[in-house]
Amino acid sequence: MKEKILIRLKQCGGYVSGQELCETFGVSRTAVWKHIKALKEEGYVIDSVSNKGYKLVKSPDILLAEDIKSSLSTSWLGKTVKVMKTVDSTNLEARRLAEAGASHGTLVTAEEQTSGKGRRGRSWVSVPGQGVWMSFVLRPDVELENSSMLTLVAALAVEKGIKDAAGIDGKIKWPNDVLINGKKVCGILTELSAQMDELNYIVVGIGINANIEQFPEEVRDKATSLFLETGKPADRIALLCRVLEHFEHDYEIFKKTQDFSMLMEEYNSFLAHRGQEIKVMRGNDEYMCKSGGINRRGELIVEDSLGRTREIFSGEVSI
Ligand code: BTN
Repeated sequence: MKEKILIRLKQCGGYVSGQELCETFGVSRTAVWKHIKALKEEGYVIDSVSNKGYKLVKSPDILLAEDIKSSLSTSWLGKTVKVMKTVDSTNLEARRLAEAGASHGTLVTAEEQTSGKGRRGRSWVSVPGQGVWMSFVLRPDVELENSSMLTLVAALAVEKGIKDAAGIDGKIKWPNDVLINGKKVCGILTELSAQMDELNYIVVGIGINANIEQFPEEVRDKATSLFLETGKPADRIALLCRVLEHFEHDYEIFKKTQDFSMLMEEYNSFLAHRGQEIKVMRGNDEYMCKSGGINRRGELIVEDSLGRTREIFSGEVSI
C-alpha cells in the first residue's frame, strides 16, 4: 500500500488529496496518514497542506525497483530487476540467478557489495549507497569467440550514460575502464559460462563510482567519482537507466554483425591515450608501444618501438 501511495504521488507531481488516496486504494484516512508518516521516516520529504493533500517534494537517494522501472525505457534489459540492500557481489548474485534460469536481461543491483569483484582476481570497493553496482544476465545469440566484445559495448554504454545523466565527458581506457580527467570512475567485469564452444550465459558487471566523497589516500591519484568531478551528487537511478538504455541499443547493433564494425568509430572517438605511449601488460609480459584505435574485432592496434603493428586481443594498458 505504501508503495502504491508513493507511485501515485510520483506520477502526479503535484498535490494529491487524502480523499483521492482513500478512494483509489480503499483505505481509511488514518491508514493513508500512517503510510505517509512511514514514507517520511524513510527519508521522503512530503508536504501536507489541508484542503490540498500531499505532495512529494524530494525522494531519498535509495535504489528502488519501482523507480528503476518507471525511469527505464528499454525493451528487454532490466525488465526483471532485483534490488538488494546488501549482497556479496552483484556478479555472483546474477550468476546464481542465471544458473536458476533467469532470463536474458535480468538485472541485479545493490546498495552495498561486501565482496565486490574486480578484474584479474582483484577486489572492488563498493561504498554503501554511493555507487551504481549492478550486473545483468545475457543469453546472447552470439558466437562464443565474439562474446568478449560485449565488454567493449558495456564501456561505450557507460561513457554515454555518464554523459547523459551527469553531463560530463569520459574516456575509455581499452578494453573497458571509463576515466574522467585521467582517473578511473568505472570498472567492468564480464564473466561467462560456456560448455564446449556453446555459450550458456554472460554476466556483465558494472561498477560506477557515482557519489563517493573521498577515496583512500593510496588510490586518490587513480580513482575518482562523478560527485568529485562535477561537484554535485549524481542521480544514481538516472545513471543506471541511461547506461542500460545505451547498452541495449548498442547490443542490438553489435548483434547484427557480431563485431565492432558499426561501433568502432564511436568507441575510438572516446578512446583514452590514442597516439600516446602506453604500457601493455599481458600475463607476465610488459612492453611499451604507441596506442592506435581498436579494429573491428575490438582489438587494440599498437605500434612497437621498431614500428611493427600488433593487434592486442586481451590485456591491460596503463601510461
Ligand atoms: C575492474 O575494473 O577491476 C572491474 C570492476 C567491476 C566492479 C563491478 S561492481 C558490480 C559488479 N559486481 C562485482 O562484484 N563486480 C562488478
